Amino acid sequence: MRESSHLSSVTPLAGSRLRLAASRGSETSAARPAAVDAPRGAAPRARARVLLYAARTPDDALVEQLKSRGWSVLVARSAHDIGKLIKPATLCAGIVDMASFPARDLPGLEAGLRQQQVGWIALANPERLADPAVRRLIRHYCFDYVKLPVAHATIDYLVGHAYGMIHLSDADLPPDTTAVSDDEMVGTCEAMQQLFRTIRKVANTDASVFISGESGTGKELTALAIHERSPRRKAPFVPINCGAIAHHLLQSELFGYERGAFTGANQRKIGRVEAANGGTLFLDEIGDLPMESQASLLRFLQEGKIERLGGHESISVDVRIISATHVDLEGAMSEGRFRQDLFHRLCVLRVDEPPLRARGKDIELLAHHILGKFKTDSARKIRGFAPSAIEAMYSYHWPGNVRELINRVRRAIVMAESKLISAEDLDLAQFSEQQTMSLAQAREVAEKRAIEAALLRHRHRLNEAAVDLGISRVTLYRLMSTHGLRDASGDDKGE
Ligand SMILES: Nc1ncnc2c1ncn2[C@@H]1O[C@H](COP(=O)(O)OP(=O)(O)OP(=O)(O)O)[C@@H](O)[C@H]1O
Ligand SMILES: [Mg+2]
Repeated sequence: MRESSHLSSVTPLAGSRLRLAASRGSETSAARPAAVDAPRGAAPRARARVLLYAARTPDDALVEQLKSRGWSVLVARSAHDIGKLIKPATLCAGIVDMASFPARDLPGLEAGLRQQQVGWIALANPERLADPAVRRLIRHYCFDYVKLPVAHATIDYLVGHAYGMIHLSDADLPPDTTAVSDDEMVGTCEAMQQLFRTIRKVANTDASVFISGESGTGKELTALAIHERSPRRKAPFVPINCGAIAHHLLQSELFGYERGAFTGANQRKIGRVEAANGGTLFLDEIGDLPMESQASLLRFLQEGKIERLGGHESISVDVRIISATHVDLEGAMSEGRFRQDLFHRLCVLRVDEPPLRARGKDIELLAHHILGKFKTDSARKIRGFAPSAIEAMYSYHWPGNVRELINRVRRAIVMAESKLISAEDLDLAQFSEQQTMSLAQAREVAEKRAIEAALLRHRHRLNEAAVDLGISRVTLYRLMSTHGLRDASGDDKGE
């Protein structure tokens, strides 16, 4: 499931270093021997591998089989048990028997499944798999699933796989994030860990890198991360947005001009390519590069030399090229809008950014990261996200990816009326099926509704509404302020 998405996330096209990535990338974790197939009597382990088995009616024979294979099995018969058994510092594998839990238990199970330190495998029968809620939980939180009935040996094999994956995510450096100056890339899902590994490998080469990904997925951040980890880090990182500069200006922007090259060229101007000498040139939105500029860029890539407009001198420039686009360049090539030869020069190494909806638990991790960064934008003390907000974040499709998540969370920080950001604050109320809320939140909602109804019944005559509600006029006035029910035109009608 998630691992297959990461396998396609990085496609090395050439380069010996990346051949290493290719062999690792194409290796399924099932083929990886370490934690999966370690024989029972093999070298003594410092600690037994922990396995959390969540089932309302656990299969005793399965527990015995897993124990005999060296697992230390903890059985959770309810969502509450899962919460109690998960230890924040212990990475473990998990089995969740979806077939044994009724639909009403699913919201409770979700909190346990969301725990970053457990690599979950789901068991489900065909009826439960028909339930969209079960399918969503498996898609979001589990490494894999099996249809029951299934041989115990298969389950043992898959949990070994999940255990290996969860340790793999944890063991790689850097553990969770990759730091880019004062900004950082957050990600723990396999697709992002794979991306971080690729960034480190790609950074050591001088080959051109082509980054593709939907809008807002972090293409520019990745380009910067590659530069900052490369031997060129002390030289400039020069971005140019090929789509934002008028076509007739692009040539002079890229290659610069000499004094007198055209009317208004009062002095020599150094182009972006030359400005990046010794460093990295980031050609953003390369798909928007007009044909004429494609030809001159190709010439530069072939010769490593530029000529300023109006100049006669060939100037050698040493830059590393990273390019990015959110458009389908293969399509543009087949329609003749993008030169194939240029594409092959630009795309020696390829990085595909995973869309946010494929990043599983990272959605929540990123949301908390953004909240931590921007929470001082609000005078209120915002503590986190309400369950409805978390659920909506996992259900929503995120067409604008991380950028959209940042915008929604920042807006919610300003809009939130309670200490927890709700699905409504994120403007995603329709993506939250179960409007779970704390008792305090439920009281708040009920109170607001009752006041609104009373005001409506009494056409905003406060004395009458207050009598109806059994409170004083002063209290009603205060509560209206708390709930944002006072309108600027004056509250009290007809008194
Ligand atoms: N993994 C991540 N961790 C933290 N922040 C991220 C991550 N990925 C992206 N961002 C943030 O999301 C925003 C969008 O990222 P970026 O500009 O790199 O995306 P992009 O793919 O270039 O977008 P576009 O296609 O719109 O140009 C930035 O503010 C960036 O800092
Ligand atoms: Mg960008």
